[in-house]
Amino acid sequence: MITVLNLYSSLNGQTRKVALEVEKACLEAGCSVTTVNARDQHNTLDLLEYDMTFAGSGVYTWLPDKNMLSFIDRQLAEARKHNLIHPNSPRVSGKHVCVYCTYGGPHTGEAEAIPAVKYMGQLFDHLGITIADEWCIPGAFVPEKMHIFNTQGRLGNIEGRPNNDDLKKIYEQTIRLISSLDFS
Ligand SMILES: Cc1cc2nc3c(=O)[nH]c(=O)nc-3n(C[C@H](O)[C@H](O)[C@H](O)COP(=O)(O)O)c2cc1C
Repeated sequence: MITVLNLYSSLNGQTRKVALEVEKACLEAGCSVTTVNARDQHNTLDLLEYDMTFAGSGVYTWLPDKNMLSFIDRQLAEARKHNLIHPNSPRVSGKHVCVYCTYGGPHTGEAEAIPAVKYMGQLFDHLGITIADEWCIPGAFVPEKMHIFNTQGRLGNIEGRPNNDDLKKIYEQTIRLISSLDFS
C-alpha cells in the first residue's frame, strides 16, 4: 500500500480545503494517509518514511506561512544532524513529493506563489525526494479589510476561490498524479 504524508499549513483555512480534498482522493486511490497540520507538529517527522508527500501552505509575502517555515527549519536541522543531506542530493528511489500553495497574487500574480512553492520543495529535494508536481491554486483573502485584493488584484476576481471546481480539479489531479508515479 502506498503511504501518503498529507502535510499542510493554513492560517485562514484556504489551504486546508485543498488538503482535505487531497486526503479524500488519496483514500479513494487506496493509499494510507497521514494528515498533519504543521502548526500542531512539534516533533520532527521522518519524511523518508512516506512514499508520497503532499505539502501545502498559504502564501504570505512570497513565502509559505510562519508555521510551515518553522516546520521546515526544524526538519532541516534534524536532517543535518543525522547527516541525511549529501552532495548532489542522490535520489531515493520511489519517494515523491507534490508541493502546492494557495495564494491571492494581488500584486504580481503567480510570481508571488512560485518562491513559496520552490522554497518548500527544496527541503524534500535536498533529501533526495523527487518533486513530482507543483501546484499554485488561487485562494481568496479571508480578512474583510483585504477584500479589495480579491477583485482588484493581478489574478482578476478570485472571490470564493478555491471553489468547488478548483477542488474537483485537485481531487482529479491527485488521483492522476499518484497513478503516474513509480513507488518501487
Ligand atoms: C495577511 C495576509 C497576507 C497575504 N500575503 C499574500 C502575498 O504576499 N502574496 C499572495 O499571493 N497572497 C497573499 N495572501 C493571500 C493568501 O496567500 C491566500 O488567501 C491563501 O489562500 C491563504 O491560505 P491559508 O488560509 O491556508 O493560510 C495574504 C493573505 C493574508 C491574509
